[in-house]
Amino acid sequence: MEVPAPRLLLPAALLMLCFSPIQCSKDLQGEITPQEVKFHSRDYRNILQWKPNALSSSEPHYFIQYKIYGEKQWLNATQCQGIRGLLCDLSEQTSDAREYYYARVQAALGGAHSPWVLSARFNPHWETSISPPTMKLEVTDEGIVIHLRAQNSAYMRRKGHCVSIRKWHRLIYRIYITCDDVLQEERSLDVCAPELLIADLRPRTTCCLQAEARAQRLGRVSAKGNKFCITTL
Ligand SMILES: *[C@@H]1O[C@H](CO)[C@@H](O)[C@H](O)[C@H]1NC(C)=O
Repeated sequence: MEVPAPRLLLPAALLMLCFSPIQCSKDLQGEITPQEVKFHSRDYRNILQWKPNALSSSEPHYFIQYKIYGEKQWLNATQCQGIRGLLCDLSEQTSDAREYYYARVQAALGGAHSPWVLSARFNPHWETSISPPTMKLEVTDEGIVIHLRAQNSAYMRRKGHCVSIRKWHRLIYRIYITCDDVLQEERSLDVCAPELLIADLRPRTTCCLQAEARAQRLGRVSAKGNKFCITTL
């Protein structure tokens, strides 16, 4: 005889428990309670994520609320009410990088509601990780021209200006240049002038470059970006 997969057994088990409506509702609450409610933040895109109850094969709807630390009132994240997915982009609601936030998630299924499950306190400034810039290289008669571009960041998009980024992070780019396998130099680059000419290179020299972003005020460094190589004329 074939043994049914455990996930198929659960709805049957639930049905059997549902003799009394109160008992049923309580069990269902436990079944659908979301797990590991946590902020994940990269480049100030602040995403709340959670996991479904590992024991349950049901697919509840989720409701998300948030608040600023110290405030009494929970607010609805209007874009994440009754959603089926397991994440909610709260970048808009958590856009002040200096603030501390909480979020919480409730699951609902067939009239039953799980308890609210709270995230840890979240501060975008301290917890966001930064991405390396993307890099484009070009070779000219004068040398190698480097173009860098920051990864998209909700924070940058909203506040709009380079100035505010510099102000909060004191963000710079750092470039590592290796020519013919010898580390040539490291250069720092202003985020607001993200172009650089490396001149005075010998002809037909192959140089490889990698860039990283550094948030100096936070003492935080991105991973190094992809390595790109180019040969001088
Ligand atoms: C949040 O949404 C629920 C359900 O729609 C509603 O009852 C409640 O009043 C809302 N809370 C706020 C603070 O708007």
